[in-house]
Amino acid sequence: MALKLNVIAAACENMGIGKNNNLPWKLKTEMEYFTKMTTTTRDPCKKNIVIMGHNTWNSIHKKFKPLKGRINFILSRSDLNLRDYGDVYVFKSFRSCLDTLEGPEFKDIYERIWVIGGSQVYKEAVECEHFYRLYLTKILKEFDCDTFFPELPSDMEEVKDDSVPEGVQSEGDINFTFNVYQNMKFK
Ligand SMILES: NC(=O)c1ccc[n+]([C@@H]2O[C@H](COP(=O)([O-])OP(=O)(O)OC[C@H]3O[C@@H](n4cnc5c(N)ncnc54)[C@H](OP(=O)(O)O)[C@@H]3O)[C@@H](O)[C@H]2O)c1
Repeated sequence: MALKLNVIAAACENMGIGKNNNLPWKLKTEMEYFTKMTTTTRDPCKKNIVIMGHNTWNSIHKKFKPLKGRINFILSRSDLNLRDYGDVYVFKSFRSCLDTLEGPEFKDIYERIWVIGGSQVYKEAVECEHFYRLYLTKILKEFDCDTFFPELPSDMEEVKDDSVPEGVQSEGDINFTFNVYQNMKFK
């Protein structure tokens, strides 16, 4: 079966996603949404894959690593040894990561693939032939950021996903919406 990459990100009004290798905001409900979307599978015997860059891995607090209930794929060109973390696999290129997913090793154990950032890895994902959907949380406020979501292909269309809450969400003085865009190549 051809790979389908789901990209999940939260971006503010200037498409900022990060500051000082951290999130510029603290939104518990958005984090819960991220966890639910990336963890849930229809088949309880399967797990989802989460693909992230080394900086994003480093930005996660030690007590939350690896992201539980998911198979963690980390991209790094250096010789990272994360064996002590369990369900964690390191890849030296995005291509080698996709080749592994196309091969027999993980074929029967994963359900969905989620690309979870950061900016460098999002760019590789949205430019790749397997880019299927973007689950984008639009934070309706501007934050000071040093990392940004990359440019998207032009042929994207907003679609409905019944597992995604509709309408404006609020936490403190921050409003946000959950949006889903599909690469029309997959229509
Ligand atoms: N708002 C959101 O939804 C969201 C989500 C995730 C992250 N973030 C934020 O984004 C920021 C981090 O993003 P970032 O762009 O700086 O870093 P990143 O994409 O998380 O990681 C970059 C690193 O990953 C490795 N890498 C990237 N592409 C690779 C490839 N093709 N092959 C092999 N290794 C590769 C390299 O590691 P080595 O240097 O080890 O070679 C590179 O330095 C943080 O601020 C984080 O909080 C935001």
